[in-house]
Amino acid sequence: MTIRYDNRVAVVTGAGNGLGRSHALLLASRGAKVVVNDLGGSVEGRGGSHSAADAVVAEIKAAGGQAVANYDSVTTPEGGKAIIQTGYDAFGRVDILINNAGNNIQNSFRKMTVEEFTAVVDVHLMGAVYCTRAAWQGMLDQQYGRVVMTTSAAGLFGGHGLGNYAAAKIALVGLMNTLKLEGRNRNITVNCIAPMATTRMSTEAMDDKTGPLLQPEFVSAVVGLLCAEEHTGTGDIISAGAGYYSKIGIIEGAGVCFGADQAPAPEAIAGRWAEICDLSQAQPFDDAFGSVAYSMRKVLRGLKDAKG
Ligand code: NAI
Repeated sequence: MTIRYDNRVAVVTGAGNGLGRSHALLLASRGAKVVVNDLGGSVEGRGGSHSAADAVVAEIKAAGGQAVANYDSVTTPEGGKAIIQTGYDAFGRVDILINNAGNNIQNSFRKMTVEEFTAVVDVHLMGAVYCTRAAWQGMLDQQYGRVVMTTSAAGLFGGHGLGNYAAAKIALVGLMNTLKLEGRNRNITVNCIAPMATTRMSTEAMDDKTGPLLQPEFVSAVVGLLCAEEHTGTGDIISAGAGYYSKIGIIEGAGVCFGADQAPAPEAIAGRWAEICDLSQAQPFDDAFGSVAYSMRKVLRGLKDAKG
């Protein structure tokens, strides 16, 4: 299988630097027509210039590819619409959307202002919402779409000083889990990547040993697969960096049923805490109903057993 994106139009948000730039270059090198969106601001998301997006467009064109720049911020519904419209205006359609734009304002939760919190949620979560919303109807109509969300280990596992960022990043998983269902019958896949890459945003967090290994191209390789027509997997969270690729899952343990006739005392729950937290027989579910049905089957079986 040779993956190509000929006749496909890709929108990559925040593509003026780091990971987004690398995704855009890969897609363009394999035939995609690319909208290179970037506000051109600082890591905190302030300021703005055209130079970041323009430089990546120039790079793609110099290599013989097709690209157009867009400088809107992802943080408003109008911005999201304008970014997607750029794809329609320049190339007539939008097939691939990589929600990559990101900022970072770190502070302990105690010190973090509401403005610092919302400034990050607005880019990571609402930016993905506005852009995906703007692209979604077109994808439904054409019965084709490949959407990639950029989550983060910080959102999936936590990180000091990253309350705003982590909250936004895990929320993207919830969005993906619903959109994978709503897009499934229309050949629209929605997946998440949790990247590890040395970029201007992450430089401070990198050490001398692994920092040089974490080149963005390693992350773009799996993004390239998730955007491929041939790849129909949806709803996956893939950790990627420096040649390492791994699925991260949300799973539910086998659980403990105390019986549904009366609520157990907290002390009774404490007595079986280790069993409740045991994930050795854990499993994933395709949707919320799967999880609820699983636990309720156990509850009903327990009632039946109790009656003899
Ligand atoms: P970066 O700072 O190099 O690139 C982010 C780009 O997004 C910048 O070019 C910036 O101008 C653009 N941007 C920021 N706010 C924007 C807005 N409102 N509208 C449009 N563009 C905007 O950082 P990096 O590392 O390439 O980050 C890309 C994505 O990967 C982000 O979502 C980040 O949170 C995520 N990520 C990165 C990790 C890493 O190890 N580098 C780890 C986990 C997640």
